[in-house]
Amino acid sequence: MSVEMNQQRGPIVAEGLVREFGEIRAVDGVDLEVAGGEVFGFLGPNGAGKSTTVRILTTLLRPTGGRASVAGFDVVDDAALVRASIGVALQDASIDPLMTGRELLHLQATLYGIGRRAGRERSNELLERVGLTEAADRLVGGYSGGMRRRLDLALALMHEPSVLFLDEPTTGLDPMSRVNLWDEVRRLNSELGTTVFLTTQYLEEADELAHRVAIIDAGRIVREGAPATLKAQVGLPTLLVDVDPGAEDRARSAMATIGEPRPTRAGRVAIGLFEGASSAADAVRALDAAGIAIHYMELNTPTLDDVFAEATGRRLEGADASADVTTGESGS
Ligand SMILES: Nc1ncnc2c1ncn2[C@@H]1O[C@H](COP(=O)(O)OP(=O)(O)O)[C@@H](O)[C@H]1O
Ligand SMILES: [Mg+2]
Repeated sequence: MSVEMNQQRGPIVAEGLVREFGEIRAVDGVDLEVAGGEVFGFLGPNGAGKSTTVRILTTLLRPTGGRASVAGFDVVDDAALVRASIGVALQDASIDPLMTGRELLHLQATLYGIGRRAGRERSNELLERVGLTEAADRLVGGYSGGMRRRLDLALALMHEPSVLFLDEPTTGLDPMSRVNLWDEVRRLNSELGTTVFLTTQYLEEADELAHRVAIIDAGRIVREGAPATLKAQVGLPTLLVDVDPGAEDRARSAMATIGEPRPTRAGRVAIGLFEGASSAADAVRALDAAGIAIHYMELNTPTLDDVFAEATGRRLEGADASADVTTGESGS
């Protein structure tokens, strides 16, 4: 086995990773490195290559080019060692609706060679962790979408993996269940130090949850970094202030050291804040000192959607998330 690879590097490393399906290059030269204990967000629209990347990293699919290591093991040469180190909750995971949550956890324990008694204890712990203790003995077929995703998470955590892969863990969930799952992921990351690789097509999810984000489009990573850094690179936050008609020039000069003027309509002044959102207060003080009345104020900070738009020329926001069920085999 080739354990020499990447021992000193992060728990997830991909180098020039490629996966072709006939004519389609689903993954087109992906380089990434995830640090230990990090929540890494893989953000992109439908068909971008997220699931294909996850399937390669979790040893379910062979790359046609490049290489990757997870937990220090090569995903092709040392697939069994990779599998022993990771937990996986896949997008299209099917779980038997005629079993209870507890039964499925016991089965998972058996699959991982955990003894009966230890398996029961571990199941109780995990049910508690994901808030399914009450529902443990009900058939999974009757679970809500959010409960099923939390069960998926518990199943993926059975063997205490150091690296966890979640493929679109909240797609199709209502906002409340989504927030619950975010809390769960945050908690296990901070309490257990688990490294989390999660894919999503939701901007807020990447923004809220991920320490670092890679934006993938058509098989290629187009941006990578901390959400705040990526957003700051797109541009300065814009402060809009409505003032008395005729006072615009005075307002602009009062704020000249705080931000650069941006085009806008009459009665309104727009400036790009040099020092970021926190200097909005300085702008208010400057206007007040100049005796200019403020009628309305708005602060627009760049979002990850602006980052995506700047990188690809398209918007991610409003892209149809419900089309998700068709990914995978469409081949178009
Ligand atoms: N088994 C497959 N056979 C042929 N094409 C596939 C297969 N799996 C994925 N693809 C194609 O690869 C591209 C990336 O798919 P996928 O990784 O599922 O994207 P995502 O998870 O970002 O929605 C899509 O064009 C998809 O149709
Ligand atoms: Mg997918």
